[in-house]
Amino acid sequence: MPALVLLGAQWGDEGKGKATDLLGGSVDYVVRYQGGNNAGHTVVVGDQKYALHLLPSGILSPGCTPVIGNGVVVDPSVLLSELSGLNERGVDTSKLLISGNAHIITSYNVTVDKVTERFLGKRKIGTTGRGIGPAYADKINRVGIRVQDLYDESILQQKVEAALDVKNQILTKLYNRRAIAVEQVVGELLGYAEQLKPYVADTVLILNQALEDDKVVLFEGGQGTLLDIDHGTYPFVTSSNPTAGGACTGAGVGPTKISRVIGILKAYTTRVGAGPFPTELFDEDGEALRRIGGERGVTTGRDRRCGWFDAVIARYATRVNGLTDFFLTKLDVLTGWEEIPVCVAYEIDGKRVEELPYSQSDFHHAKPVYEMLPGWSEDISKAKTFADLPKNAQDYVKALEEMSGAPISAIGVGPGREETIEINSFL
Ligand code: IMP
Repeated sequence: MPALVLLGAQWGDEGKGKATDLLGGSVDYVVRYQGGNNAGHTVVVGDQKYALHLLPSGILSPGCTPVIGNGVVVDPSVLLSELSGLNERGVDTSKLLISGNAHIITSYNVTVDKVTERFLGKRKIGTTGRGIGPAYADKINRVGIRVQDLYDESILQQKVEAALDVKNQILTKLYNRRAIAVEQVVGELLGYAEQLKPYVADTVLILNQALEDDKVVLFEGGQGTLLDIDHGTYPFVTSSNPTAGGACTGAGVGPTKISRVIGILKAYTTRVGAGPFPTELFDEDGEALRRIGGERGVTTGRDRRCGWFDAVIARYATRVNGLTDFFLTKLDVLTGWEEIPVCVAYEIDGKRVEELPYSQSDFHHAKPVYEMLPGWSEDISKAKTFADLPKNAQDYVKALEEMSGAPISAIGVGPGREETIEINSFL
């Protein structure tokens, strides 16, 4: 019953696509359990590069069944265009399963996301503008539209009416926008129904049966720990639970079924959108990390904010997710620095603080306390084992492991599938 959760240990974009894809060959099911097309994975297979937003990375591994769980929010137009894009490149997508309980991101959710951000002005979250927050808000407010609703026209009509009742008042009276017609939305949604039908399934039943049959199931988190609605840097977060518990609710499996929780950890730190980021760099080092690491959003094309590794955050991720392992990514990006600063604690109002402060105001004022680690200049992209790494790179990894509180079981030394050092097997 090997059930693994793979999630971002920082603010997302840690390189999960590479990790899921690496495991993909030996995994029977890859399941997304939260988020939507706000995520972005780049997966490199041979000389082909794939950018996935909504589909689980396992879609690229023949033999693996990709699953969109009940906790995901699905924009049908994005899903269908992602599928046809892959089909045009010869990728077989016929095994995909979508939970009938997953919620749909409607066109009005996207409109509301954009209008709300504009109204927030300088207080904006910096969302991806994909309608994620409004779709989850509708879910919690019990006016959401689910995938299964596409197959009952009268229910769909009633639900869209209920959802637009209040929204149209807000759009017209508060935001000075035109009202959205119920018929237009219903027609649009019904237009997707037939194309999606072959994929819709009772994914909770299928996944639990798979676990009973000893299949390997990988739960793939979107975004990252610090973007979690409960455990992240609220309100500068996404509207779902990327942390490990989210895999249980978002896929319908009990916590006793999860055997391993792997945190993807970048060898430095990045963040997209607004919100606190203690180790952020505004100098040429930050620019160099962005350039060498290719730190530009797969989904939005926005430049990522870059900074040094933050061990306080890594320790926090270990705790809130119950991490059993780390997958350290992009170590090669740090090649060439004479010394590499690592944040080991914060200074807040003159006091040294070792753990993430629970108070948002304190976190906003946190100044990083750095320890300098010696760098390396050798090319590490061909390293196959830990021993192949230069001594200073080995020491950097060991120091991170000690500070972060879980073993580093794999290290990424380049973007390609094969450019990974496996220390402990994940299966
Ligand atoms: P939303 O998820 O579009 O609502 O955006 C909320 C916040 O999460 C913003 O700061 C986004 O930049 C951030 N965000 C959402 N998805 C990702 C991701 O996949 N990687 C990194 N940041 C993300």
